[in-house]
Amino acid sequence: MGIPLRTERLWLVPLDSAADAADVHVAFADPEVMMYWDEPPSRDVGETAGRLAGAVGDYWTVRDVDGGPVLGLIGIMGGVDIPGLQWILRRDVWGRGYAGEAAIAFVEYALGELGLERVEAWVDIANGRSIAVARRAGLTERGRLPQRYPHRDRPHETVVMGRARLAEPTVVLNVVVELPVRDVSGTSGLFENVFGCTVLFTEDDFAGLGIGAWSGGRRIHLVTDERPSPVRLSLETVTEFDAIHARAVAAGVQIGQYPVVQPWGRREFVIALPDGHEVTVSGPL
Ligand SMILES: CC(C)(COP(=O)(O)OP(=O)(O)OC[C@H]1O[C@@H](n2cnc3c(N)ncnc32)[C@H](O)[C@@H]1OP(=O)(O)O)[C@@H](O)C(=O)NCCC(=O)NCCS
Repeated sequence: MGIPLRTERLWLVPLDSAADAADVHVAFADPEVMMYWDEPPSRDVGETAGRLAGAVGDYWTVRDVDGGPVLGLIGIMGGVDIPGLQWILRRDVWGRGYAGEAAIAFVEYALGELGLERVEAWVDIANGRSIAVARRAGLTERGRLPQRYPHRDRPHETVVMGRARLAEPTVVLNVVVELPVRDVSGTSGLFENVFGCTVLFTEDDFAGLGIGAWSGGRRIHLVTDERPSPVRLSLETVTEFDAIHARAVAAGVQIGQYPVVQPWGRREFVIALPDGHEVTVSGPL
């Protein structure tokens, strides 16, 4: 169990899920505060108390050193490979640097006394305040993934921010797929048209395609090969699933498997490319 932590202006005190529920509910009931949270606003104090009691992990309340009600929570989710950081504050105390101050102390504690090797924060890319809090606590971007919370009508792009106890070099920065094809220029056009790829460079027998519009992202290289061996690729999208499917159908590309909902909770369909390669496109439900 955790110990209280002191920062310049705050106390972080291990959560008492029953006694603190009424204060925490001020944050949990507020739609603006809950906009990027993985659950919808809580309807009453009882529901908040239930969520706190059922939370898997260890949480601390954030309090002003001069006293007063609980301002929010900071904690680590358990039950996942790399413990996940979460923070939340009542709306009326945002913008004073409290979250950053709490996160700096908390991450030092987690990687120090608690002895964790790594911590992560999964943040909706639109939640700029939370990304700034993660940066302040020394977390840097490590990856991206598509997510959809059951209560939200749309999926979103999640930025995985992380920090390790010991400094570690970046071993591999990117993975580039090299796809053998008979017709580099035709296949390149197909990737542009159906998958929205950007052509980064092109030669007679070689082309570099970027996934999306920006520099430095994932890439696919097409190389000429008279007898290409079939390869399987998987593309994970966030919001483009239906659009890619519609463009593939419109382009007359062969659909190897029509969209299905997989037991692991994602939608998938398969495009069969002329050279025998299969591209599985998957998106959140
Ligand atoms: C995330 C949260 C705890 C941050 O609280 P806060 O009081 O605004 O945090 P701070 O005052 O410490 O400052 C946050 C940072 O956001 C910056 N910021 C303020 N408004 C911003 C905006 N609209 N967009 C991007 N950054 C912003 C601040 O400049 C500050 O950056 P700095 O540390 O580099 O100076 C609070 O907004 C919250 O409770 N949000 C709802 C719950 C939530 O989404 N939690 C995260 C789930 S992953």
